[in-house]
Amino acid sequence: MTKALFGAAAMVALMAGPALAQEPLKLEVFHWWTSGGEAAAVQEFAKEFDAAGGQWVDTAIGGSGSTARPIGINRIIGGDPPGAMQFNTGTQIDELAAQGLLRNLDDVAAKEGWKEALPPAFYEAIVRDGHVMAAPVNNHGQNWLWYNKALLEKNGIAEPTTWDEFFAAADKLKAAGVIPVAVGGQPWQLNLMFNSILLGEGGKDLYMKVYKDLDPAAVTSPEFKKVAETFGKLRDYSDPGNANRDWNVATGMVISGKAGFQFMGDWAKGEFVLANQVAGKDFGCILGPGEKNFVMGGDVFIFPKLKDEQGTKAQDLLATVFMSKDAQVKFNAKKGSVPVRLDVDNSQLDACAKIGVEVLQDPAKQIPATDILASQDVVQSLQDVVGEYWATPTMTADEFVGKWNDTVAQAK
Ligand code: GAL
Repeated sequence: MTKALFGAAAMVALMAGPALAQEPLKLEVFHWWTSGGEAAAVQEFAKEFDAAGGQWVDTAIGGSGSTARPIGINRIIGGDPPGAMQFNTGTQIDELAAQGLLRNLDDVAAKEGWKEALPPAFYEAIVRDGHVMAAPVNNHGQNWLWYNKALLEKNGIAEPTTWDEFFAAADKLKAAGVIPVAVGGQPWQLNLMFNSILLGEGGKDLYMKVYKDLDPAAVTSPEFKKVAETFGKLRDYSDPGNANRDWNVATGMVISGKAGFQFMGDWAKGEFVLANQVAGKDFGCILGPGEKNFVMGGDVFIFPKLKDEQGTKAQDLLATVFMSKDAQVKFNAKKGSVPVRLDVDNSQLDACAKIGVEVLQDPAKQIPATDILASQDVVQSLQDVVGEYWATPTMTADEFVGKWNDTVAQAK
């Protein structure tokens, strides 16, 4: 009897054709990955989602996170939410979560063993009031220094390990008529560059006192002032065209040999990969210079509460795909980041990622990004202070230090 029933059901399904066949679980995914490397990487997620029975509807906003996030947040608050939206790992999701606009992913996280698979800092960064509120997708190192190997070799420059060696290299490039440092003069990019100096020259303790403890005494210390002076000195090694330059355009200057160096997160590697350049052969990478640390940042996706059940099912599927081992390896290989899961095969990592994973073995060198340590009021307002200092060569390091502490006092 049972066999006959199954046979009949199968027959009905076949006769009914596609109507009864499982409809793909359609979901609009909102992100800001529009550079060549980013677009190639996000395609890997889309392919995995579609192959798993989803239908990825892509909404990509050009520019950077600073441009895209307000647009997405307004849609969610306005009642027209996408099915999933990108944020940086850390405090950026706090307000939406507190307003009850996001669904939790507790069931998926429990079923898929996220807590066991993630570095503790990244698991804590997605939990709010005991619930898992986002799916993490990568671990992006933010304090890399990239360089064009041929250009350095042509000018007799060895890979700099200290800030003095870096500026000696930059002087050589400048004398050779090459732009020493490709800079995108946008606050978030300038702040990344500042943080590389703060960590490399100031050291981890100073970085944590400044961003985690928001300690005014750390900011008025001689060490912080030296960091500020080093950052200000970099103005002389960039080019006048840096104002509001997009990060991937700056990366393109290093790829083409127009510039020697770029301070940027390892999403820049996605552009080198797309240009068929090989890590360790065509381009080099340094965490630093100075004290070796790995500033761990990254991206997560949140899932706004939706009215329809199909949408919610699609969200469960996408969250599962985002953290699946296959998707993690395929996406991160093109994104330039390392997989956020600790239990995937990293044997195919390129020479730069291998350096990063090596440094990450030491928990003392796993430095949370500012987006994880501080509120968005503090992070965003300090980015603006750094941007103002860069754009105002007449501003002294002391005036910058004063602005920093005043801003933190107001933003806290
Ligand atoms: C970062 C993000 C990266 C990359 C970068 C440049 O915030 O984590 O994935 O998109 O912005 O847009």
